[in-house]
Amino acid sequence: MQYLFEIQFISLFRTNALLAVFLADFNMKQKKNLFIALEGIDGSGKSTQTKLLGEQLTREGHKVYTTFEPTDSPIGSLIRNILKGRLKADHRTIGGLFVADRLDHLLNDVNGIVKKLEDGFTVITDRYCFSSYAYQGTHMDMDWVIQANSMSAGILRPDVNIFIDVAPEISMQRLYSNRNIIELYENLENLKLVRAKYLEAFEKLKSEENIFTVDGNRSPDLIAEDIWKEVSQMLKLQQVG
Ligand code: ADP
Ligand code: TYD
Repeated sequence: MQYLFEIQFISLFRTNALLAVFLADFNMKQKKNLFIALEGIDGSGKSTQTKLLGEQLTREGHKVYTTFEPTDSPIGSLIRNILKGRLKADHRTIGGLFVADRLDHLLNDVNGIVKKLEDGFTVITDRYCFSSYAYQGTHMDMDWVIQANSMSAGILRPDVNIFIDVAPEISMQRLYSNRNIIELYENLENLKLVRAKYLEAFEKLKSEENIFTVDGNRSPDLIAEDIWKEVSQMLKLQQVG
């Protein structure tokens, strides 16, 4: 009788232990997908690094969704027509369009970021709120821009904002050697101002946002290495915590 009781007790203990391990593992997997934003001036290498980081995460077995702003939605297309000079709009109107494009980027029920995260994808976006703070903040009061985007920031703040810091002179050289259309904000004077506004916004929001700056004046591989060190460290910390 005593013997039977002990066997039952041990098997119950084992089941509970297995359940605990399973739940911990499940919880770990649940927490593993990150929301990552890449930021930087035009030509800083965001698209290149979005692709490289996406590939690295995929190799590590993560489900990855890469995306960008301005989006390819109707609002994003309208913005791109303005940036290419096909349509004209005041900077304040452009600021408002970015607010709307970002909300749709988060909330649309086909491929919105919120849904993608719920579905377990790690989401990497090429530009998010800080782009508006820096670019629109160059033409109007930055606090207004931050306020106007507060709904998006309230819905989702990136686990990390990765800022690829490049000298505007270098990014302009890259743009001129690769593009035949130069867009609205792509001139040296403006990009110098935008870079300064990024730094101002990081300082202003350093208690609310996680910002990681990487030296972008180097080869794509070296930049990717630094970004991967940061992201893999974040993934490890999540698994421990
Ligand atoms: P962004 O998305 O920030 O505009 P891209 O990734 O499209 O930047 O890069 C702009 C151009 O510069 C592309 O032609 C790309 O191949 C090149 N490029 C990207 N990263 C680097 C780098 N670290 N060094 C030199 N050229 C780069
Ligand atoms: P993008 O296509 O990322 O340009 P690039 O690949 O050259 O960096 O973005 C297009 C432009 O839109 C770019 O000049 C930055 C601008 N922009 C804003 O002004 N505000 C925003 O909120 C965003 C997302 C982009």
